[in-house]
Amino acid sequence: MWLWVALLLAALARADIVDIPPHNETARVARYVAHACDWGALATLSTQESPMRGQPFANVFSVSDGPNGPHGSGVPYMYLTDLEISVHDLKVNANASLTMSLAQTPYCKEKGYDPQNPLCAHVIFSGIVEKLENGTAEAEKGKKALFSRHPEMKTWPRDHGWYIARFNIASIWVLDYFGGIKTVTPEEYFKVIP
Ligand SMILES: *[C@@H]1O[C@H](CO)[C@@H](O)[C@H](O)[C@H]1NC(C)=O
Ligand SMILES: *[C@@H]1O[C@H](CO)[C@@H](O)[C@H](O)[C@H]1NC(C)=O
Ligand SMILES: *[C@@H]1O[C@H](CO)[C@@H](O)[C@H](O)[C@H]1NC(C)=O
Repeated sequence: MWLWVALLLAALARADIVDIPPHNETARVARYVAHACDWGALATLSTQESPMRGQPFANVFSVSDGPNGPHGSGVPYMYLTDLEISVHDLKVNANASLTMSLAQTPYCKEKGYDPQNPLCAHVIFSGIVEKLENGTAEAEKGKKALFSRHPEMKTWPRDHGWYIARFNIASIWVLDYFGGIKTVTPEEYFKVIP
């Protein structure tokens, strides 16, 4: 009996897993990576004391472009507080880059790809991190995207002033195959059916 339940659950979980798109469909690969990853490394220009001031500073953030399921919106949402060290940087200069890799999913280990192997697809977004006004339709959408994949967020300290932010994508680089990095425009990225 339990075996049947376990098999059914495994089958249901697999229904969510979509294969990585072919490497000649770069915009789709970028959407795939952005949806598959639950977190990313966000690099800001540091406003900390010298000698860090003005230097690149990469920090880990939970992200979500939508609830688990075959596709996401492509928009990375984040849950931030002004108390956070990288958010101090964003207050001065909201320009940042966000890196996500299939090394953060079981994919690369299963395939035996080292994280630096281009076949272990990764994507780098650059753009601006923008705070969303609480209560707007988009903030609600971002909250749903984040809380469904990061349920612990619901319990984070209430007095920290958390808010939903959107990474406004201006440029996209994709490394998913040999022959060098490729770029995708935000228009191609959002237009494509992932
Ligand atoms: C990618 O290659 C496949 C065949 O290998 C082809 O069917 C498909 O149209 C190509 N897609 C693009 C966007 O070039
Ligand atoms: C982003 O950086 C550019 C210069 O590189 C600057 O002009 C612009 O004000 C920055 N944007 C924000 C929102 O900080
Ligand atoms: C944001 O809005 C929700 C209702 O939409 C409310 O429950 C919550 O307290 C608000 N949070 C802040 C920080 O204002």
